Amino acid sequence: MATRDDILIELGLAPVWHRRRTFDATMPAGIAPATAAPVIARERATGVLPARSEENVEARRARIGALEWDALAADIAACTACALCRTRSRTVPGVGDVAADWLFVGEAPGAEEDAQGEPFVGQAGKLLDAMLAALGMARGANVYIVNVLKCRPPANRTPEPQEIESCRPYLDRQIALIKPKLIIALGKSAATTLLGTESSIASLRGRIHRYGGTPLVVTYHPAYLLRSLPDKAKAWEDLLLARRTIQAAGRPDGLS
Ligand code: URA
Repeated sequence: MATRDDILIELGLAPVWHRRRTFDATMPAGIAPATAAPVIARERATGVLPARSEENVEARRARIGALEWDALAADIAACTACALCRTRSRTVPGVGDVAADWLFVGEAPGAEEDAQGEPFVGQAGKLLDAMLAALGMARGANVYIVNVLKCRPPANRTPEPQEIESCRPYLDRQIALIKPKLIIALGKSAATTLLGTESSIASLRGRIHRYGGTPLVVTYHPAYLLRSLPDKAKAWEDLLLARRTIQAAGRPDGLS
């Protein structure tokens, strides 16, 4: 069986990673602006989006905010809140342990996720699984994995703001149900959505943020790491910061 060192070497991390000595505990919080409603209303009026019984944005958010897991899954599967419903093969709600301490948030399903209905099952997912293994963890065991969007954008393009806004109640409800001890935002879409900032990953990583009361660590998206070997070491530092934060949360004195 591979040791942790074997896995780190396999990831290309072993020669370069080092422990951070300190981290900044400033905690900006934020919610992405509600920009989607007029766009969605216009698209429905012009037939771009399928007609549906009019449910205003706030009523929908409140309704989704009260759903339990089964009803939430059914709602996601039937969702027509944005135009991605017309091009998806299936929705990709999320996978893992619903009582997990760790919640990983990616961007959106790609082709393989769209085909299988599970997040991070392609090449990027294999790297994510390897990084979890390096931490002694595995998907499904104290880990939950979701995306900001539950449907694949055509040709894997970057999600549009109104798509993110339409899907946002699902992500918020998943976080409220899981109550993770820590959230890891994988890449720009997740960081922007959860923190309400357009800042770069380079400027957000390496410190603790907050989503509501939950500590949140920002790191590079695994798909980006597949193309940028040097930043793998930084991502590994971020995961170690996340682990120290979870460990500290479990201690009454707050020290890791
Ligand atoms: N990239 C993501 O952000 N999510 C996936 O599920 C797959 C690739």
